[in-house]
Amino acid sequence: MKGLILSGGHGTRLRPLTYSQQKQLIPVANKPVLFYAIEDMIEAGITQIGIITGPNREQVIETVKSRDWDAEITFIHQGDPKGIAHAVKVAREFLGNDDFVVYLGDNILKEGIVDHLDHFMMSDFDASILLCEVPNPQQFGVAELNDDGTIKRLVEKPKVPPSNLALVGIYFFKPIIHKAIDHLKPSWRGELEITEAIQWLIDHGYRVGWTKVTGWWKDTGKPEDIIDVNRLILDDLKTNIKSEIKGRIVGRVVIEEGVEIDENTTIKGPVVIGKNTKIRNSYIGPYTSIGNGCVIENTEVEDSIIMDGTTIINGGRLLESLIGRDVKIIKEESHPKGKKFVIGDHSRVFV
Ligand code: DAU
Repeated sequence: MKGLILSGGHGTRLRPLTYSQQKQLIPVANKPVLFYAIEDMIEAGITQIGIITGPNREQVIETVKSRDWDAEITFIHQGDPKGIAHAVKVAREFLGNDDFVVYLGDNILKEGIVDHLDHFMMSDFDASILLCEVPNPQQFGVAELNDDGTIKRLVEKPKVPPSNLALVGIYFFKPIIHKAIDHLKPSWRGELEITEAIQWLIDHGYRVGWTKVTGWWKDTGKPEDIIDVNRLILDDLKTNIKSEIKGRIVGRVVIEEGVEIDENTTIKGPVVIGKNTKIRNSYIGPYTSIGNGCVIENTEVEDSIIMDGTTIINGGRLLESLIGRDVKIIKEESHPKGKKFVIGDHSRVFV
């Protein structure tokens, strides 16, 4: 069994962050989203993992290589994102004639893939998908079931969804899927759609099974999804404090080495704080992740992600915010007063 993780694509819905950062590298609870997929595969015993790269190839390779993994990782370059099925096609040589799991690198699944993989291995299915009930099925691939619970039809982002069962971005395949992909034509959005390849299997009498997601599942496509998933991951946080802290700590927190927190600061978990960050005269409230090397002064932050190297001074009260790397948010006390912005394309500021 091999694994293929997709870490290409442009991530347009996450601009401006994705102008400089590949979307699967955005940190959730101070860990790149992509790492959750790699960990799930390793937990399921998969030791040969291919990672599909796209526009920010070097960044993905460097980030993945910054950690030691109990798996052999091969990087496969797709270039422009021409579809999930196209990515599988590009990985054809790596996949050989083995069974494999495809994991979209922007998906996070609380329960991991162990049980779903077991179900596939013990069955005689040619493919198996994961389905999850969602309130907004039109934003995903959607499954329609027969009365006996087998899959009748899969449709990609339907205007009128036939059910509330969304396709999760994790798929188990036997090598027959390569034949299905060879029959695909680009869809209306110009992509080779994996949903259509699975539909080809159904239409040609191959067996496609499914398992239901019981915990939470998130596709981190939009800023609010990232804030949501940060909350969900921090819900399971276990306290680990590696610095000497002068301030008041309430609840579960992870504080890395070299962190300075003064006596006028309160941290109310769940909160994670990265290495060498300095916090003075501030309140860091529940569900906040602060990266490495940040400076926060005279500011209240809650329910937010602040990435490496960012400085916030006299920031007022920040809520549900997603703030990138090396950002400066500073309220000057000098005259003339007023708001001064240097903000990249597609930024959003709510004052
Ligand atoms: O997240 C689940 C959904 O993922 C499914 O319900 C849909 O059926 C499936 O088509 C997919 O929809 P998205 O519109 O969310 O896919 P997106 O284009 O965002 O790509 C998913 C991931 O794969 C993302 O991390 C980028 C990466 N990717 C995507 C394409 C199209 C690549 O690496 N290469 C590609 O060519």
